[in-house]
Amino acid sequence: MSAEIFDKAKGILEAIKSAVPKTAEEIEQFRIQYIGTKGSIKGLFGEIRNVANERKKEYGQLVNSVKQAAEEKFTALKEAAEAQADATVEQIDLSVHGEPLSLGSRHPVSITMNRIIDIFQRIGFVVAEDREIEDDWHNFTAMNTPEDHPARDMQDTFYLMNDPSRLLRTHTSSVQARVMTSQKPPIRIIAPGRVYRNETISARSHCQFHQVEGLYIDENVSFADMKQTLFYYAKEMYGSTRIRLRPSYFPFTEPSAEMDVYWGLNNETDYRITKGTGWLEILGCGMVDPNVLENCGIDSKKYSGFAWGMGIERQAMLQYRISDIRYLFENDVRFLSQFKSAF
Ligand code: DAH
Repeated sequence: MSAEIFDKAKGILEAIKSAVPKTAEEIEQFRIQYIGTKGSIKGLFGEIRNVANERKKEYGQLVNSVKQAAEEKFTALKEAAEAQADATVEQIDLSVHGEPLSLGSRHPVSITMNRIIDIFQRIGFVVAEDREIEDDWHNFTAMNTPEDHPARDMQDTFYLMNDPSRLLRTHTSSVQARVMTSQKPPIRIIAPGRVYRNETISARSHCQFHQVEGLYIDENVSFADMKQTLFYYAKEMYGSTRIRLRPSYFPFTEPSAEMDVYWGLNNETDYRITKGTGWLEILGCGMVDPNVLENCGIDSKKYSGFAWGMGIERQAMLQYRISDIRYLFENDVRFLSQFKSAF
């Protein structure tokens, strides 16, 4: 009987020695199996009562050595596992270069548009945005553009094929109609956005481009107010203190004008850009035609206002000396990544 009990204890000792638990889970399993309160060593101690008296001491020593072997192995395994875990953390090489994360850059049209918005926001204009797919009324009729006006021609305007009463807006002036029919004066808005025209694409013109519209309506708004506002813009945007207003015609303004900014004639590029005059035409403007106010439900006897519209691409091209408008729509990163801005 005693011999069997001794064999069992020796068998467990062998099993402990040859066990190779690796993961934290296996090590814990090892502890439960041998050292735990329900483990096999506990059982071995219990067997002592079945051992012949003269061998009890010997058995006790054997089981103690089994217990010690199990505990030592467990401690060693645990320490090794912890060291391993530490080593894994330490293996991270903090000096290794990170993956280069290339930041995008703003599109030159966005930069220019944001500069324009910023300039007008500083004097109290708020941004108004509206749809690019417009109806005929807001784009043309409300803006005093008669049925037979050439701008309405299919040649110039993209109409929706399945609904010819709708079109891609040809100018941001449509936002004037949207704002005037939904807000009461005083109105002081700028409307930046994309517009579309059925034009042959070339270095100078595209079928899609951007404009910023401006509209100011209140009591007693005068042509002088408009002139001062646009003069301020020329100063902020171009650092120019010379502007000139040339009489022009737009259906929605009366009187109408085109504004030039003095750019200068210091080098060959200036001659080319300004066609030798030193002046740059940058926008169309005028006093809002009373018909437009009435079309939109605003009393033209009480209120007056001024409006303007300017292209963004042309101004971006001037500022960055971009020679071909098509660069602005091709999304070539070699081109786009050259632009950096705080805006
Ligand atoms: N809508 C005109 C265009 O696209 C620009 C324009 C001219 C807008 C005069 C205006 C304005 O508001 O008063 O060419």
